[in-house]
Amino acid sequence: MNITPGTGATRFQVRSLHPALGAEFRGVDFNGPVDEEAAAAIHAAWMEHLVLVFPDQPVTDDWHVEVTRCFGEAEVFHQDILKSTTVREIFRVSNTDETGTIMPREHPTMQQLSSARTWHTDSSYRPVPAMGSLLHGIEVSRTGGQTCFSNMYAVWEALPEAWKDRIRGRRARHDFEMLSRITGARKPTEAERAAMPPVWQPMVRRHPVTGRTSLYISPIYNDRIEGMEDEDAVEFIGELAEFASQERFVYCHRWETDDIVMWDNRCTMHRVTPHDPGERRVMHRTTIVGDGPVLAA
Ligand code: OGA
Ligand code: MN
Repeated sequence: MNITPGTGATRFQVRSLHPALGAEFRGVDFNGPVDEEAAAAIHAAWMEHLVLVFPDQPVTDDWHVEVTRCFGEAEVFHQDILKSTTVREIFRVSNTDETGTIMPREHPTMQQLSSARTWHTDSSYRPVPAMGSLLHGIEVSRTGGQTCFSNMYAVWEALPEAWKDRIRGRRARHDFEMLSRITGARKPTEAERAAMPPVWQPMVRRHPVTGRTSLYISPIYNDRIEGMEDEDAVEFIGELAEFASQERFVYCHRWETDDIVMWDNRCTMHRVTPHDPGERRVMHRTTIVGDGPVLAA
């Protein structure tokens, strides 16, 4: 990282963006190595604010991946769809193909991406779900395309006691195949399914760093809850997502070109708002592999 003049308190500037979560972090340049002091300051701010926005970061894909590695291993998506053909850790959350052409709505990539309009947390269908994600806005939307984040610590605290009683000690199933059911995208092949079988995760989790308790659901992947009929489970997950989408828990990010937004998948959910499909939206994401199984709270 190229060091901004100043040291200690003056080197980095952190500004809260919403009472529930989200802060802007300035004083770093991601087109170069990140030193230990910067990585520690980012990590501390991330644990406090859950979502960090780094403005003015016109990074190359290679540096994007390199910065990701300051916080853990960079995940490689298990399907070829959405994956960059040049840098395999880059996930193309974009409505253009790699030649720059806008894809029609019926394109399989667009069908799969449409799931991101529903609340979720990334890679929750893995036995060890992703710790975090870093999304780089390369061509940003002016007609919508905001990314909204919900603070799931605050959601857990605010849930009615009767709902907490229905959830405590229960696990929800996270199945990658659920995506094809809600988006109409093609079903995973046998081999893809074998590589990513459904997993059961606690619905209340303890954050391994902060020790705080949060609700853990991922509505685009959840198809079952232990001890409930499947229909009731899906309906209940929907009600929980509705509760979590109250303004008091949610920060919506309106993108500027070359923002990087970094979120913690262990204690937040996110979704993208719709935008004009004829408008180019080019976003590249990396994902930080989780550092261990989900801890039940
Ligand atoms: C993601 C995602 C939302 C967006 O990258 O994981 O859900 O704003 N994207 O495109
Ligand atoms: Mn996502």
